[in-house]
Formats: sequence, structure tokens, C-alpha cells
Amino acid sequence: MEIDDSKFSDVMPTAILTAYPRTFSDIPYSQEIFDEIHRSYGAIEDELMVTRIAVELEARSKLIDRLLTEQGTSQVIELAAGFSSRGLLFARTAETQYVEIDLPEIAHRKKAILDNITTVPDNLHIIGGNALRRGDFDEATKYFDVAKRVTIINEGLLRYLDFDEKAEVARNIRAVLEEFGGVWISGDGATKQFRNSQNQRVPSVNTTLMNTTQRNNMGNAFESQAHFEQFFGELGFTVEFHDYTEVINELTSPGRLGLSEDEVRDKLLSYASAIVLRLK
Ligand SMILES: C[S@@+](CC[C@H](N)C(=O)[O-])C[C@H]1O[C@@H](n2cnc3c(N)ncnc32)[C@H](O)[C@@H]1O
Repeated sequence: MEIDDSKFSDVMPTAILTAYPRTFSDIPYSQEIFDEIHRSYGAIEDELMVTRIAVELEARSKLIDRLLTEQGTSQVIELAAGFSSRGLLFARTAETQYVEIDLPEIAHRKKAILDNITTVPDNLHIIGGNALRRGDFDEATKYFDVAKRVTIINEGLLRYLDFDEKAEVARNIRAVLEEFGGVWISGDGATKQFRNSQNQRVPSVNTTLMNTTQRNNMGNAFESQAHFEQFFGELGFTVEFHDYTEVINELTSPGRLGLSEDEVRDKLLSYASAIVLRLK
């Protein structure tokens, strides 16, 4: 299957949309990275700076960190890593071969941004590629030892892919996990119910996303948790759901934004889940 990167280029600005709210959290390097994004791109449209999704994004990030740490793996591929600092932090604190794959333009900017902020460790590899292209996974796994398991993660990619594209990514991931063993952790376990509740809470975010990328549409959303299980089940995976509220006690943005625990639990994080996918 021939993959054309330009079909996904209108998703690239969403990497800024998700980097900005992290500046309200204690996730290391969030402010430094955002300042460098600013320098790299020049003026950033107000539309891409949506404070009201800070809690959701901090929870998504910390839940994935926790699930990744629980795996205890020393080989990681992060798909669509955008401007996240996770790779930098994990590569520093553990003997981890950490490979990020994002579209070439974002990977290129990310390398320059990190180089301007800090010394990038040799075990962090930032590859320009496409999650739908099987050969780009081969570029990633050349850093790995076949005797060790791999964890593949993503946050904020699946919602922008149609169901055929999601299936293609899943098949690529399955091929890596069949060779190395391991699991796939995705922050994108939310259903249409979450989208509907997000539309009520932060109407501007989905409107902005609709203007930014044609790919943020309801047709790409899962109907229910049963739909996730059926879809990924047919692709050879079991699915385990984790609510974003599992990390509610670790969140710092609610304090900075003056939000109550009830508002965070019952409104901002309701219906949001990450998923852990294992080969059947
Ligand atoms: C919403 S951002 C999320 C970035 C990061 N994971 C975060 O949470 O901040 C979506 C990312 O998906 C990337 N992307 C879109 N299509 C892709 C593809 N086919 N392969 C790899 N990355 C892709 C974009 O360039 C962008 O960085």
C-alpha cells in the first residue's frame, strides 16, 4: 500500500494545540518546548491555545506514563509523538531505546527544538515517518534487541484516522509485537460519548480542530467500548480500558486553573479512557 504523507499534513498543527495546555502542568520541559515552538513557527493563532483542555491532556499524558512504566520495557516506539517531552524524559531516566515517529516536518522541528533546549541523549531517536508505513517501523526496530519486549504508544493519533487507516496502523503494530512481544498503549480510547461531552464543555476545541484538520470528524470516532473490542478484536488484539481519572491525584493543572475535584472528575475527565492492547 502506497502511503502519502501529505494526506496527513493538516493534522500537524494539532501538535501545537496539545503542547500549549501542557504548560499548565508540571510535566517537565512543557514551557521550554512551547517557547521554542513559538520561536520556530512565529506567531501562533489564539485558536491553537485552548487552556480548557489542559486537565484532559495532563491526565492523558500521566496515565500513559504510568502504563508505560508498568510494562518495565526498555524498548519503546512512540507514534505521532508531536512535541511531547516523554521520550526525552524516559530516555534519560532509564536504559531505554526510545524511538519517536512523527511526520517528517514535525520530527525535523522537534529535533531542532530539543537541541535548542538541552542535550538530547543518544538513546532517543526521532524519526520522520508515517504510522501507516510498515517500512518506517523497520527503521525504528533497528535500534532494538529482538530478545527484549517492545511497548508501542500513541496519544492523539487514532481520532484523526479513518477506520481503514486505524486498521493499517494496528497491523503494523501487530507485526512488531509478533516479532518482539510486548503491548500497545493508546491514549485514544474515548468514544463518541466523550466527544459529545467535550463539545458541551469546550465547544471551541472541536470547532477549532474541524477548521484545522478535516480529519477530526465524528465518522472517525468509536461508538462504544464494545466497538473498540470488536474492531481491534478482529485485528488480533484484546483491549483493556483505563479511565483518565486513575491519575486524578497526580494532576497539577486543576490547581493552577482553580478547578474543583468534582468538576475535574465529573466533567473534564468523564468518559475519557486510555487502552492497553495485547496480542490475543
Ligand atoms: C494531536 S497531535 C498529538 C501529538 C502528541 N502525541 C501530543 O500528545 O502532544 C497529533 C500528531 O499526529 C501526527 N501525525 C498525524 N498523522 C500521522 C501519521 N500518519 N503518522 C505519524 N504521525 C502522524 C501529527 O504530526 C501530530 O504531531
